[in-house]
Amino acid sequence: MSRTDVLEKLVSLSKRRGFIFQSSEIYGGTGSVWDYGPLGVELKKNLKDRWWHAMVRSRDDVEGLDAAILMHPRTWEASGHVAGFTDPLVDCKACKGRFRADKLEDARCPRKPSRQPGQHADCELTEPRNFNLMFKTFMGPVEESAATVYLRPETAQGIFVNFLNVQQARRQKVPFGIAQIGKAFRNEITPGNFIFRTREFEQMEMQFFVDPGQPAGGRTDMEWFEYWKAARMEWHLALGLERERLHFHQHGPQELAHYARAAFDIQFDFGGTLGFQEIEGVHHRSDFDLSRHQEYSGKKLEYVDQVANRRYVPFVIETSVGADRTTLAVLANGYREEAVPGEPDGRTVLGLIPALAPVKAGIFPLTKKDGQPEMATRIAEALRPLFPVEYDDSGSIGKRYRRQDEIGTPFCVTVDGESAASDSVTVRHRDSLQQERVGVDALVGWIAARVR
Ligand code: GAP
Repeated sequence: MSRTDVLEKLVSLSKRRGFIFQSSEIYGGTGSVWDYGPLGVELKKNLKDRWWHAMVRSRDDVEGLDAAILMHPRTWEASGHVAGFTDPLVDCKACKGRFRADKLEDARCPRKPSRQPGQHADCELTEPRNFNLMFKTFMGPVEESAATVYLRPETAQGIFVNFLNVQQARRQKVPFGIAQIGKAFRNEITPGNFIFRTREFEQMEMQFFVDPGQPAGGRTDMEWFEYWKAARMEWHLALGLERERLHFHQHGPQELAHYARAAFDIQFDFGGTLGFQEIEGVHHRSDFDLSRHQEYSGKKLEYVDQVANRRYVPFVIETSVGADRTTLAVLANGYREEAVPGEPDGRTVLGLIPALAPVKAGIFPLTKKDGQPEMATRIAEALRPLFPVEYDDSGSIGKRYRRQDEIGTPFCVTVDGESAASDSVTVRHRDSLQQERVGVDALVGWIAARVR
């Protein structure tokens, strides 16, 4: 199967099997906003847990944070979002479509989808105007400009404004980082491609504060940049994303923000017309953000190095990855349809690594007699407090395997005719289809060793 239609297949699988639903579907849906269903929420949570573990729990130089979505409006003036977080927008007076002026070649004319907007005889495009992507709302009961607040368009600013709180409370020394996972909102003009570009999404961001002048923690600022670039690529590879579908894209002079010293995106090949797209940015942001917050708040945001008797505003190396976009990458990477001997319909498989799989094991009785359902139920109940497992006794064993393959369950445990006498079960591996016999007493350890 080509990669071209994988996104369409994933939309359908996600709805059918409870990964992702369109938001407010019964009202006709909300544009480019999605709800995670029972399996999707587990998958995304597993992904976020892995990030949190790699970036916070397993390190003593990165601290966690959960900052509020609503921030003081001056934050967004300091960050540059009020003035500059805009896309050029054009309207078509004829069809009422709205398009990004700088991405017209990627857009389709709603009345003639083989052409881009502006190429149909009746198109009437307006001049481009800047459209700010931040969602505005009001704090308190009065809807006036003095009460305007924004839904944050990135989580990073919550980290910058808490830089000294965290550093002092945790007695951290530069270099150190602050990490958080949270919702961000952007009123994208051209969202789309399922959960790739949405108006409400989750980011996992880490800002690593380094000495701007001298090596600290054994590395210069640029060496820390290289360190994080490599570490983040390794993290994506450990999710099971195929090496040839991942690469770095370096920001050229046109893309690089004026304050940035260097910036690379980690791109994943989603296939089809989407192709290679950014899933994470690794940016050297110099001292831009802290200096701006210092200027706009009037509060010093300097780090005091008591040993060297120096004070300075640190440079920041940022790693910023989308939880939803990476979830989509994991789904696209794992989706496959393949032939199975003796089964005309073949099977659909989500080849997720066991640690990400929403269900770790399907538990089946081979038949509904000889005490097999009772024994399988006992096994499922013993495993459930430790791992998400699913008991299933409906339909043929082949059908039950297929159901689990399609949601990415790595193991299926079957209680069969030998189980009662030998106190053992067969365990079938999703990818190799190999089966092995495992003692019931050893089952917890057997699964634990493979899913963590
Ligand atoms: N603080 C830096 C920052 O926000 P970004 O490149 O705008 O950088 C970082 O966003 C990541 O957030 C992207 O690589 C992507 O994974 C995710 N992201 C950004 N906009 C998104 C959207 N509209 N929908 C889904 N994910 C998005």
